[in-house]
Amino acid sequence: MSTQTTLTQFIIEQQRKLPEASGDLTLLINDIAAACKRISHTVNRGSMTGMLGSAETENVQGETQKQLDIITNDIMVEALDWTGHLSGMVSEEVDDIIPIPEQFPKGKYLALFDPLDGSSNIDINLTVGTIFSILAGEDGADARQEDFLQKGTEQVCAGFVLYGPSTMMIITTGQGVNGFTLDQDVGEFILTHPQMTIPEETQEFSINMSNQRFWEPAVQRYIDECLQGTEGSRDKNFNMRWVASMVAEVYRILTRGGIFLYPVDNRDSGRAGKLRLMYEANPMGFIVEQAGGICSTGYERILDIQPTDIHQRVPVILGSKSEVERVTAYHQE
Ligand code: AHG
Ligand code: MN
Ligand code: MN
Repeated sequence: MSTQTTLTQFIIEQQRKLPEASGDLTLLINDIAAACKRISHTVNRGSMTGMLGSAETENVQGETQKQLDIITNDIMVEALDWTGHLSGMVSEEVDDIIPIPEQFPKGKYLALFDPLDGSSNIDINLTVGTIFSILAGEDGADARQEDFLQKGTEQVCAGFVLYGPSTMMIITTGQGVNGFTLDQDVGEFILTHPQMTIPEETQEFSINMSNQRFWEPAVQRYIDECLQGTEGSRDKNFNMRWVASMVAEVYRILTRGGIFLYPVDNRDSGRAGKLRLMYEANPMGFIVEQAGGICSTGYERILDIQPTDIHQRVPVILGSKSEVERVTAYHQE
């Protein structure tokens, strides 16, 4: 029998290389993995849980919540608030920061998450996921809103879990990107995709074309050139994919390269894009950069943005280096 490396073993071995590591991060990642196994099970049962469909409430972004947005948020909060590793949390589904209840000890980390990414896909049985980011907080104290407003470069760990044909966790602690597949029988995430890297050359782009009329000229030009294929200046044909689940798009890009764009658009004045900086763009940016790709707004590196609000939105262009560089060059012109 071949020896298999579990997520826990892998993280412990990675942390051993860092003299300052206390073991807290390993335990926190384990707790997140446990929550995601529970979410995987819940999502997998589909209609049988009676939990599909709208909750008929709105989150802080004014988006209608799915029942599963709320349930998966509760699973994350309940799995993490008692552990003693956190001093506070931020979730897409909760307006304010989520404090650690008084009866539990406070720890040195902050967790930020999108409990169910791509939730518009849940009712049609397409891939959804959970995205998370871990920052350092003030040990033993209750976190304040400003403690979370750290640049993406400060992330200690970032990851996402994909609930697709198989459940996978993709994670980085700043030493490359590794992918684990959930063995449902034994309940362990097993290392199946060590040291993932994004292929530099690609012929695949990912954007919601229905928003085309709202894009800025740089994005218009880039997509136009892709669509022209061998008849245009790029002199090659492109393929297009849009799952409407960022987790699925980023996983595809990690596997076979490509570019993903959710750019700024001029629909509502001042709308800075759709995706949220703290629990979508930053963790995905950290992962993409660790896999050799780039993550930009078109004008600046995502991880360098100084956040001003826990729920702020940003334009996101990420993926294979040469393609993202091309789009950002068009933004400079
Ligand atoms: P969420 O379900 O957490 O609100 O995020 C959905 C995001 C992202 O995953 C996806 O890329 C994008 O929204 C899809 O947007 P459109 O519905 O505009 O295609
Ligand atoms: Mn999301
Ligand atoms: Mn979500």
